Amino acid sequence: MGWDHGYYSSDYYTIGYYREMAPNWLDFAALVKGHRPPRSVEGEPFSYLDLGCGMGFGLCILAALYPEGEFTGVDFLPDHIAHGQWLARRLGLANITFLEADFLDLQHDPSPLRPAAAGATTPGGAAQFHYVAAHGIATWVIEPVQQALFAVAAAALRPGGLFYCSYNTYPGWLPLQAFHQLVKVERQQGAGGDVKGALQRASQRMLTLVGPANEPAVLGLALPTLRAEMEKAPSKDQRYLSQEYANDGWQPVYVADMHQRLMAHKLRPLASATLPELFADLVPTQLQAVVMAEQDPLVRETLLDLGSNKSFRRDIFVNGQLHLNEAQRQQALGRVSVALQAAPPINDYLFPTSFGTLTASQASCAGMEAWLAEAGPCSLEDLAASANLPPEEAIRLTALLLHANRLGLHRGPACEAALASCQPFNAAVIELLLEGAPLAYLASPLIGNGVGFSSIQAMVVQGLEQGMEGELLAVCVQAGLAALGGTIRDAEGQPLEDPAAQLEALQTVAVDLQTTGLPALRRLGVLA
Ligand SMILES: C[S@@+](CC[C@H](N)C(=O)[O-])C[C@H]1O[C@@H](n2cnc3c(N)ncnc32)[C@H](O)[C@@H]1O
Repeated sequence: MGWDHGYYSSDYYTIGYYREMAPNWLDFAALVKGHRPPRSVEGEPFSYLDLGCGMGFGLCILAALYPEGEFTGVDFLPDHIAHGQWLARRLGLANITFLEADFLDLQHDPSPLRPAAAGATTPGGAAQFHYVAAHGIATWVIEPVQQALFAVAAAALRPGGLFYCSYNTYPGWLPLQAFHQLVKVERQQGAGGDVKGALQRASQRMLTLVGPANEPAVLGLALPTLRAEMEKAPSKDQRYLSQEYANDGWQPVYVADMHQRLMAHKLRPLASATLPELFADLVPTQLQAVVMAEQDPLVRETLLDLGSNKSFRRDIFVNGQLHLNEAQRQQALGRVSVALQAAPPINDYLFPTSFGTLTASQASCAGMEAWLAEAGPCSLEDLAASANLPPEEAIRLTALLLHANRLGLHRGPACEAALASCQPFNAAVIELLLEGAPLAYLASPLIGNGVGFSSIQAMVVQGLEQGMEGELLAVCVQAGLAALGGTIRDAEGQPLEDPAAQLEALQTVAVDLQTTGLPALRRLGVLA
């Protein structure tokens, strides 16, 4: 095995941003579970380590959002680090460092991390970060690398700090495990380095093996979701598919096994960054009886994952818990401030979650949102009082509304410094979007998190600024996008080939931006 230890290193990874990695999001989840977060107030200096940072855009957004933080991204792929360093320079960020290093080396010698943790070290010299994150790493690498990742995270985290670790889990991945195995043998037998060819061959063969939808074969009967997954494969990003299916160490892990592995490194499971999963009583009634009766946390989580066919977990671990009693917890959560994000009026508050679609009280949710629309950002304590809700109910509904991106966690007075760093950052991201860079997010200093934004929206905004509108604007955006090789999609995400349909879709984008999109982006401090 070479320097990559079986990790797919022939190409770089897709560029992504994950809202659950934001410090205020992690703090909120920790508070709900009664842990005093690593920062006592928004705006306090802190350090953040992203292990396996990929192309680095996600970490760059966090660095712009939290100018008082020091951010360090580690990855062993030179392409990723070169891109991260270039991007940080291009986006004008001074509080971020990208380090090319292998977890296997860092576990023996963590000294390269030392200067990055803003001078905070143990007497033994280990760096001390408030937050350590590893998004989509633990189940993509071989077992010794996974162990090294956990050892590095445990040593780098300061006492009371939070470790965010997301990973593929079972039983959700069981059907695709069969596909992974087929891709693996295809790659080993003859396909060689041709990952794309191996993926195509494997998905075509798998479709034959599962049989037609109306007359499934034995495998199709045993794994009924496999057919749909194979049919979706050609429309998925090739880089994503390669990293998901061409890593020798790829191996989803059941929750109990993962928690035991991390506890062996003194990292204790605390919370989920998938907010609805923080509230056991939101579990559907048919699961409640079996799940809630179980006292052992590992057995309970296992039952929950089995019952909800879980495929992905975003877990938060602590290096030493700082317990809050119930009064302290309620008080701290009451002080959390929230703001309206994009919240167009809806009749039914339905929240898709990993354990099914939840329905929340229309009156309570609409009441909270109406209050925020009228009064502006406010504390959870005031919000609960204004909507006449018990505090715990307001916390639960807030978690659901955050999960649905209807609310954001407001950063209070810390917004001001963040505004100064986010607005030039966003202008630079828009420049890159206009060049066709697949960045897809801008930074909102108000809520300390990213908001979705596309190349098409960037072109529409540019056209509007130049005084264009209607069909002329749509024609210009269509031409600009064609020059970049971009795709225009319908509301279901399907590519639109017909030029007239493309123009119609672009005019809708322009109207939506003018009526709701731009006002919301301005309210969130994203655009001036
Ligand atoms: C699936 S990608 C996730 C990237 C990023 N966190 C994201 O979600 O976009 C896994 C990352 O781990 C990095 N990686 C794998 N093995 C590593 C090792 N031994 N040391 C350091 N980084 C490693 C890869 O280069 C890759 O960027």
